[in-house]
Amino acid sequence: MTGRLQFICAHIPSCEVFADIGCDHGYCTQYALENGLCKRAYISDVSAACLKKAETLLAKEVQTGRCIPVCADGMEGLPEAPDCVLCAGLGGEEIVRILSEHPLPARFVLQPMKNSEKVRRFLVARGAHIARDVTFSDDGKFYDLLAGSGRGGDEYSEHEYRYGRDNLKAPGRAFYEKIGRDVATVQEALRCVRTRGQREELLVRLGELEAICDAIEECL
Ligand SMILES: C[S@@+](CC[C@H](N)C(=O)[O-])C[C@H]1O[C@@H](n2cnc3c(N)ncnc32)[C@H](O)[C@@H]1O
Repeated sequence: MTGRLQFICAHIPSCEVFADIGCDHGYCTQYALENGLCKRAYISDVSAACLKKAETLLAKEVQTGRCIPVCADGMEGLPEAPDCVLCAGLGGEEIVRILSEHPLPARFVLQPMKNSEKVRRFLVARGAHIARDVTFSDDGKFYDLLAGSGRGGDEYSEHEYRYGRDNLKAPGRAFYEKIGRDVATVQEALRCVRTRGQREELLVRLGELEAICDAIEECL
């Protein structure tokens, strides 16, 4: 398993019915079943070819009925409501679309590849409690992970929506490095910028990122 998948799996809570939406290879469900985190698990993917990979990996569990394959869009086609939904490796807008079609599950583990801010806004607007909202890195890439419960409510500041709550409350090295990379990207953009408006916008962004960097340096 990659470091990314290990990090995701470490956040899967104990539950009754687990659903791995966009399961592809099925490694996360394998982890949940092998570690006794759920009684039964749905592996679901919109692509039959991707689902086949998970079905092959989990053939024994599929045979015993502990793992149930579903080829469908999002959570369509699940015969029961899972109490924990994992949705990893998809875009944030797609995750929001998938989740918005159903009541929020009791527990969720989400790892959007982009647009994490949209996922945070959606979850908070729906009354979710985001217990873990952190940036991590694997193999030189940065990822966000959001895990929590469908109820409990949360209030987020604008900065928390943009950067992730745990990153601001207890910043880690991955977030620090990501912000450093973003600083370099904005500095590079400033070298090529043509209009005054764009330049001012980039300078505001740079100022915000540098302030965050300074604040993190004091914590690390
Ligand atoms: C990049 S893979 C991620 C696989 C795995 N969850 C991971 O994190 O490594 C994305 C998977 O999501 C599936 N997928 C994309 N959109 C989907 C949707 N709306 N419903 C179900 N599966 C979807 C794709 O077919 C693909 O297998």
